[in-house]
Amino acid sequence: MKLLIHGGFFSEFSQSNEIKLAKQQAMERIAKSAFEFLKTHTALETVVYAVEQLEDDPLFNAGIGSQIQSDGIIRMSASLMDGNSKKFSGVINIQKVKNPIRVAEHLMKVDDRVLGGEGANGYAAVNGFDSFSTEIPERRAEYERKLASLGTGTVGCIALDSNGKLAAATSTGGKGFEIPGRISDSATVAGNYANADCAVSCTGVGEDIVSAAVASKIVTRVTDGFSIEESFGRTFNELAEFDGFAGAIGLDKSGNMFWQESHPKIVFAAFDGEEFTVFQ
Ligand code: GLY
Repeated sequence: MKLLIHGGFFSEFSQSNEIKLAKQQAMERIAKSAFEFLKTHTALETVVYAVEQLEDDPLFNAGIGSQIQSDGIIRMSASLMDGNSKKFSGVINIQKVKNPIRVAEHLMKVDDRVLGGEGANGYAAVNGFDSFSTEIPERRAEYERKLASLGTGTVGCIALDSNGKLAAATSTGGKGFEIPGRISDSATVAGNYANADCAVSCTGVGEDIVSAAVASKIVTRVTDGFSIEESFGRTFNELAEFDGFAGAIGLDKSGNMFWQESHPKIVFAAFDGEEFTVFQ
């Protein structure tokens, strides 16, 4: 069993040493708690469990603490991919739910598995998800200063369970100050992808992640026989061709973990039951 989480890049709101330390402590707590959960649950259940905790922590740009878009409204995106069944589900630009990843999980059971905007809002409302404001004062202040901080976050988890199954989940409050209607990478196969061989979750600038199809390319390369390290290397080289801003965590079916970032500002944590690594 193996598990990795990420808490995205540091934003303007998370630049102070105090917040960085708090983020690292939160990563450790969540990675360890999710690993305990993984002992008795599938990878699919565990990645949702971990991302829900990251969404609930206002330190991270997903769920509570999400960035505010240019019209003053928070719209969030989240997705889930089961490496075993190859099913992908997600919500794009959903508003006023506490945990977008739980709505993505709910959508796994229906035929229309990716919903956006009003459709996602309506689906959440009729399926028992209470209306909830995920705005926090720090994000409002950031918004009011009109400082669009580069690469502001996103959270994710990838896990390998005791049956050798892989899954990936990713959730985001977006870039901040986006034009309403902008689509994040986090609920696409560029930002979140898994199959039987590899699982990947990304953070960074969605447009760059989609342009380089980061998660799906890394996973496909592993399936095609490249090592996870080589698969990351090739994909990040392609990202570098246009100075793309992204980070990603990956885990293959043998339990090999890898992570890479185009700019050294991302916060990751990995836990395998014995060794805990947190780094930024
Ligand atoms: N990676 C988050 C976003 O660009 O929306």
